[in-house]
Amino acid sequence: MEHIPVLLTEVLAGLNLRSGLTVVDCTLGGGGHAAAIARSVGARGRVIAFDQDPCAREYARQALTQNTNIELIQENFCSLAGALAARQINSADGFLFDLGVSSFQLDDPARGFSWRQDCALDMRMDPANPLTAAEIVNQYSQTALADIIYQYGEERQARRVARNICLARAKTQITSSGQLKAIILRSVSGSYAARTAAISRVFQALRIAVNQELAILDAALSAAAGLLRPGGRIAVISFHSLEDRIVKNTFRRLKTQGVLELVAKKPLTAGAAERENNPRARSAKLRLGAKNAG
Ligand SMILES: C[S@@+](CC[C@H](N)C(=O)[O-])C[C@H]1O[C@@H](n2cnc3c(N)ncnc32)[C@H](O)[C@@H]1O
Repeated sequence: MEHIPVLLTEVLAGLNLRSGLTVVDCTLGGGGHAAAIARSVGARGRVIAFDQDPCAREYARQALTQNTNIELIQENFCSLAGALAARQINSADGFLFDLGVSSFQLDDPARGFSWRQDCALDMRMDPANPLTAAEIVNQYSQTALADIIYQYGEERQARRVARNICLARAKTQITSSGQLKAIILRSVSGSYAARTAAISRVFQALRIAVNQELAILDAALSAAAGLLRPGGRIAVISFHSLEDRIVKNTFRRLKTQGVLELVAKKPLTAGAAERENNPRARSAKLRLGAKNAG
C-alpha cells in the first residue's frame, strides 16, 4: 500500500515554511512529507532527512526524484545533533518527527511488523539492531515480558499473555507472528474484536521494545528544540497515547524552561475526509512548538 503522508497540510502550515529555509525531517519513511517540504522551501532551501532504515532511501526514491535539495542521512534520530554537527549544520528552521513505522515497513512480510501476515518475528526498523522481537519473546523472563506488554502495549491481561508465551516456548521456539498471534488469542478473554485489539497491543509493545521508540523520544525532541533557530518550528506526529504523552510532557518542560512556545494547547487531528481516505490518520496527533526568539 502506498504510504500517504499524514496531516500533510497541517504539517506544512505548522512548520511555517517559506523559500530558503532549512528543515530536518527526522523520519523520512516514504518521503511524502520530505518531498512536500522540499517544494515549499524551494531550490534555495534545504531538507535534511533522517531514517534508520536503509530501505527508506529506496521507498523515498520516487517521491524525491524531483527534489535536488534533499540530503539523506541513514541514522537514528537519537544521534540528531552529532550527525548534523558532522555535516557542519548547527541550526535549522524546522524539525519534523512523524513517528512509528511506514506503510512500506508494515506491508513487507520480511520485516515482521504486521500480525496480519504470517512472518518471522523481526520488527527492527534498523536491520543492524541486534535485538529482534523473536529474541524478546524467546529469551526474556516472564516478568520482563509482562512488563513490556503492560507498559508499551497497555494490555491489561499482560501477565496471562506472558505466562502463556513462556509455556509455549518451553515446548518449541516461537519464531512466527502466526504462533504469537495464536498464543495471544487463547490468553485473553472477550469478543473476537477485543482479542484482536489485544494482538495489536502486544505487537505494538514488542515493536516499541525492539526499537526503543519511547526511550529516545524526550532526548531527541529536546535536541531538536536546542537546534531550532529563533522563531523556528518543531512538528511531531504521534500515533498512540504513550508517544503523545511523552511529546506533550517534553513540550511542556521545554516551555517551562523558556525554550519553546506551544503553537496550540491541544494536538491537531485529521478531519473526516482524511480519516476516511487514510486509516493511519485516524489515530494521528500533531503537536507544534515554536522556538522562543531568545
Ligand atoms: C511514519 S514513517 C514516516 C513517513 C514519512 N513522513 C512519509 O511521508 O512517508 C516513520 C519512519 O521513521 C523511521 N524512524 C522511526 N524511528 C526512527 C528513529 N528513531 N530514527 C530514524 N528513523 C526512524 C522509520 O524507519 C520510518 O521509515
